[in-house]
Amino acid sequence: MHEKINRLLAEVESLAAKSNDEIEALRVRLLGKKGSITLLFDEFKQVAAEEKRQFGQKLNTLKNLAIEKINVLRENLEGSGNFSPALDASMPGEPVALGARHPLSIVRNEIIDIFKTLGYAIAEGAEIEDDYHVFGALNFPPEHPARDMQDTFFVTTGDNPVLLRTHTSSVQVRTMEHGKPPIRVICPGRVFRNEAISARAHCIFHQIEGLYIDENVSFADMKQSILYFAREFFGVDVQIRLRPSYFPFTEPSAEVDVSCNICKGKGCNICKHTGWLEIMGCGMVDPNVLEASGIDSKKYTGFAFGMGIERIAMLKWQVRDLRHYFENDVRFLRQFKTV
Ligand code: DAH
Repeated sequence: MHEKINRLLAEVESLAAKSNDEIEALRVRLLGKKGSITLLFDEFKQVAAEEKRQFGQKLNTLKNLAIEKINVLRENLEGSGNFSPALDASMPGEPVALGARHPLSIVRNEIIDIFKTLGYAIAEGAEIEDDYHVFGALNFPPEHPARDMQDTFFVTTGDNPVLLRTHTSSVQVRTMEHGKPPIRVICPGRVFRNEAISARAHCIFHQIEGLYIDENVSFADMKQSILYFAREFFGVDVQIRLRPSYFPFTEPSAEVDVSCNICKGKGCNICKHTGWLEIMGCGMVDPNVLEASGIDSKKYTGFAFGMGIERIAMLKWQVRDLRHYFENDVRFLRQFKTV
């Protein structure tokens, strides 16, 4: 009897079935009225009194195991819908390679997050714009030499030609046309210029524009906002300086430098031994620009600023060649994994 029990135990351990019918057949074969296990209980009646305890325990174990095993088979079949004994659902899955954010997206999101804490909303505009929104409304008169600063890809010709925007300042105009002050927006986007591609220039790049218009907005407000941004982005020890500059759409205008975060202002080849790195242009929005978009320049003032995302990313990671950002070489991109 020992042997019979052991054989059945081994059989129960390795039970397998592909369908409900097969499971039912197994149940009948083992536990049905004439099932092998049921018959053993009949045999058990003849076992000598002193051995009853030992056999009883073993038989019960066998019966319970058979019931449990059959239940598990039923559950598996229901769960999979298509049960296959070859399938081990507890095996680890095939590894899926995780992607990562593009370094330019990482920097853009970081910049946006900083300005969001100052209450700026995000505004986006079209990449294909007209001359009026990229130049005219921003105080670039026709034939103005400042248009040459931004070599333009034209899509059409005519009075108000369609073109690829050369800067995100066009989103300023769209925002002012559609909204009333107070306006506080940050405008990330892709821009296009007809430039030869090199380590330092590309015909496609990205900018972030900022615009703040309200009553009594001052140059000091602008400087403080930019200082706040620089400290959040580059670290609390960073210094900024404003150099007078010229943009048609701002008056006065300035360019902003931050102290070189690589040599800490001592001078190195990244900052060309000046200790300073240029990060953006800015200024008080020219009254002509406000008026062109229907904002009363006697009541409202504002400031604007614009920066290149590639440039900021280059400073953050000391990437020497801008072209890396556009080649999608995973060996480059993998280095910026943030998770
Ligand atoms: N649009 C300028 C450029 O592409 C950057 C810029 C400078 C934007 C000064 C501004 C600003 O809003 O005030 O070179």
